[in-house]
Amino acid sequence: MMDVSGKLAFITGGASGLGFATASALAAKGAGVILADIDADRAAKAAETLRDQGAKVLGIQLDVTNEQSWVSAGEQARAFGAVQILCSNAGVGGGSGPFEEYDTEVWRWNYAVNAHAHLYACRTFLADMKASKEPGHLVITSSMVAIVPPPISVAYISSKYATLGIAMALRNELADTGVGISVLMPGMSATRIVETTRDLRPAQGETGAAAETSQAMQGVLAGGMSPARIGERVVRAIENGDYWIFTHPEWKALAERVTADMLASFEESADPAYQGDDIDGLIAANGGRMFGIKI
Ligand SMILES: NC(=O)c1ccc[n+]([C@@H]2O[C@H](COP(=O)([O-])OP(=O)(O)OC[C@H]3O[C@@H](n4cnc5c(N)ncnc54)[C@H](O)[C@@H]3O)[C@@H](O)[C@H]2O)c1
Repeated sequence: MMDVSGKLAFITGGASGLGFATASALAAKGAGVILADIDADRAAKAAETLRDQGAKVLGIQLDVTNEQSWVSAGEQARAFGAVQILCSNAGVGGGSGPFEEYDTEVWRWNYAVNAHAHLYACRTFLADMKASKEPGHLVITSSMVAIVPPPISVAYISSKYATLGIAMALRNELADTGVGISVLMPGMSATRIVETTRDLRPAQGETGAAAETSQAMQGVLAGGMSPARIGERVVRAIENGDYWIFTHPEWKALAERVTADMLASFEESADPAYQGDDIDGLIAANGGRMFGIKI
């Protein structure tokens, strides 16, 4: 059980939605928080809100896609204190439309924010967190779409699969360190993500059917779960050391369908004469673990 009181958390996308909700829930338990966001004004206002509630808080500007911006954020954070909880959470929606017509710049931006940024986040803080005598924790925000992909943006879905993959691989890597890891897999939540995506999109705004889809998504998400409850769940996961953070159990039946569909295709070997991979040997060569779990 990790006591978050007195710890310092660095949260990307911390000015809004799930990031701010996690910051609020951590602050309510006595943690200090750094709200890092590309929107400097919103980060400053969000920090002020938590400061008024008595929290130790710093709001800073950070573009998670920009390595230089991470260097500056790391310096500002270290001047404020030692980060023990890292929430790599910033994300944007991916736009819509057929894959073959996808705007290349929007595709790259989506991957840079949603997937690649986890590398910069870890590069900035993870070595210090591992070296610290204090227990640390990393939370990476993926999405339910990385388990059950709905017919929405290929860029968003695939970048969230990449994020889940990063978290799965890090689960192995962090297994014998003092840094725990969680992967957040939310269903729908009533945040600003559609507006944020529209504001930050590095290309012409969407028109026609794509704009209508985005408008419809905004309506659907408005009825989603309160970000506050998800932030509180994230804090419980940090405290309990939960790897998976599933917040929306109503998706379980479809998760089972996806998995069953995949498992049903395992029966046929491409080479029935092959003796089979030496999986036991592979596990033994990797400290007896697979996906971070002792096998
Ligand atoms: N809202 C949902 O239904 C939902 C569901 C599953 C997963 N998620 C994920 O939750 C995370 C948070 O999204 P949210 O729903 O709270 O949206 P949000 O728009 O309310 O908050 C995201 C924050 O990230 C910031 N941001 C965007 N690009 C950035 C960049 N380049 N550098 C730094 N900050 C940047 C935005 O300014 C914003 O403050 C995302 O990773 C999203 O994919 C959201």
